Amino acid sequence: MSLDEFKAACHSLSTDGPALIAAAADQDAWASVRNMLVGRTSGRLSSIMATLAKLPPDTRREAGQLANTVKVELERLLDEKQIALAAAAPSAVAFDRSMPARATWRGSLHPVTIVIDEIAAIFRELGFTIALGPEAESEWYNFTALNFPADHPAMELHDTLYLEGGGLLRTHTSPVQVRTLQKYAPPVRILAPGNVYRRDFFDATHSPMFAQIEGLAVDEGINFADLKATLTHFAHRFYGATRRTRFRPSFFPFTEPSAEMDVEVDLGDGRGLRWVEIMGCGLVHPAVLTGAGVDSERYTGWAFGMGPARIAQSRYGIPDCRVLFDSDVRFLGQFAV
Ligand code: DAH
Repeated sequence: MSLDEFKAACHSLSTDGPALIAAAADQDAWASVRNMLVGRTSGRLSSIMATLAKLPPDTRREAGQLANTVKVELERLLDEKQIALAAAAPSAVAFDRSMPARATWRGSLHPVTIVIDEIAAIFRELGFTIALGPEAESEWYNFTALNFPADHPAMELHDTLYLEGGGLLRTHTSPVQVRTLQKYAPPVRILAPGNVYRRDFFDATHSPMFAQIEGLAVDEGINFADLKATLTHFAHRFYGATRRTRFRPSFFPFTEPSAEMDVEVDLGDGRGLRWVEIMGCGLVHPAVLTGAGVDSERYTGWAFGMGPARIAQSRYGIPDCRVLFDSDVRFLGQFAV
């Protein structure tokens, strides 16, 4: 084989090729033209390339470059043609029955919602009903009626989000205690879930908005033993019957005595069981009962407040609360039930 014969073969391919490509009427014709021209095993270009080794060594470089130019041009024309054919195809053809179906998209409840529902279900069995209150509250319901002294630090601007024209965003769900007692005569047993707001930075353990669940039981003869028994029952139902619980003395203006309740929890961080605070609680302060119009000589009560996000974190071993706000379905989808 001489260089001239090689050139002639290239030349005929570069004149036949474009005509054949232009004539392809559909995708099938296009595929067979492509196979015939540049197909790897039996295409015309491949057979020309196969003769390269038989050329005199000093002509191979020029021959190779020529063949490559032809190849690049044919491939460019093939690409253009394929795009043109796809654009011209009737749309019915674009529906490909052989494509696998997309998986159906199943929504799921947010882990904090799951936890709130579970907590509510446990207390519902004990006769508690759900009570709701406004997120935009007055200073009186949020602080004064809950026995906060007028100079309490929680009321300061750097902790509480005040609204223009008076009022504030409630900093806890405890005002629902007062609203409920004003509306219903004891015996009262309510659970009040809802969002609360604080002037906090958004970090691994704080967010300016978060959910709380308030609980309140008011009746004749209620004492601290009722509180302990009920909350321990709750912890055993929620975390498991073998979990240990403990109450530590604490302080809240609206309860006396006040306590924090801890549960032994495995946070899944390899450190095993350890004490985690799950709520504040106490016997309702007589001043709160009286302020809400309840006879505090006749009635007593107990109350608690917990953060379901914290509880979700302790339940599912989530170290950073921000993932609960991120709306990342890869994370949230894990809780689909
Ligand atoms: N309101 C408290 C807070 O936001 C939580 C709380 C503690 C609520 C003790 C209660 C209670 O009802 O008795 O930190």
